Amino acid sequence: MKDSNDILILGIESSCDETAASVVKNGRIVMSNVISSQIAVHTVYGGVVPEIASRKHVENIDYVIDSALKEAGVTFDDIDAIAVTYGPGLVGALLVGVSEAKALAYALNKPLVGVNHIEGHICANYIQDINFEPPYVALVVSGGHSHLLYVKGYDDFEILGRTRDDAAGEAYDKVARAIGMGYPGGSKIDAAAKEGNAEAIEFPRVFLEENSFDFSFSGLKSAVLNYLNKMKMTNTEINPNDVAASFQKAVIEVLTQKTIAAAKFKGVTKVAMAGGVSSNSALRSEMKRLCDENGFSLNVPAPVFCTDNAAMIASAGYYEYIKGVRSGLDLNANPNLKLGER
Ligand code: KG4
Ligand code: ZN
Repeated sequence: MKDSNDILILGIESSCDETAASVVKNGRIVMSNVISSQIAVHTVYGGVVPEIASRKHVENIDYVIDSALKEAGVTFDDIDAIAVTYGPGLVGALLVGVSEAKALAYALNKPLVGVNHIEGHICANYIQDINFEPPYVALVVSGGHSHLLYVKGYDDFEILGRTRDDAAGEAYDKVARAIGMGYPGGSKIDAAAKEGNAEAIEFPRVFLEENSFDFSFSGLKSAVLNYLNKMKMTNTEINPNDVAASFQKAVIEVLTQKTIAAAKFKGVTKVAMAGGVSSNSALRSEMKRLCDENGFSLNVPAPVFCTDNAAMIASAGYYEYIKGVRSGLDLNANPNLKLGER
């Protein structure tokens, strides 16, 4: 139901392989969250094929938006603004959502708000806990990005650190492929690691320079590949679960310890996580353990709001909308859009 003071945002997301639409009330209350995943289509190829992703978005987007309105029990008349991801992501995939949102905004005469996908991931935390507010330190770990941020306000971010090479999710996906677990790698390694011994293989923990909040995962990925090669050359059978568990432990140690150090550095008591990798069960439990140990609170979205969804885009769109941000019909997809950039 919508009261006269309520603001309803229709969020649209199509930056990678999920076509998603959602209606969110006042930036916090999810009235619907429809996600059409293309995982089955891309699994055959071992990863996302951009051209296929774009075509699938075109096929699905009208139905997904229609379902989001129906599930929320609203019509276009009730929607105050349309928020859409315009970057970063795959350009062809982004263009589908952006074109759809522009067409709707024009035809319905509704305001349009372009949203940064990474800011969207962060806003999933406002859906998770309706009282959660900045300032806090956030670890944003997805397939394309790894950032440690000091979130000062709803759209005010200080980048404390970022990956210098592979994103955390990318490392998960590459290692999963190397040990024959296929796509999507993150959730498969998460599950396999539960059956493996995390102490079995000593992989490097890359902390970089003292006090650096940057990440680097390509060395760890190479260490896993070297290990697999060595085992192959010596005809030694590997235990994929042990490799998954040992790799995962190395990733998580670095992610969690740097996040805690960043929170101490900024003097905050609130920590948040966001992005597909933050749905990882071991990362969630280790971060919780360390936050408890240090007297920090931890906010993490439910797994469905960690991976790509449109509710997070509608939430980010709401905070831009109430600030007066509006996009024109010249809004374009920006595959390399940076955090904090418009
Ligand atoms: O945020 P997201 O859905 O899309 C991007 O914006 O990139 O993140 C996708 C990434 C993929 O690399 C995927 O392997 C990883 O998140 N991921 C996970 C888990 N679920 C998804 N990584 C580790 N553990 C998981 N359970
Ligand atoms: Zn994402």
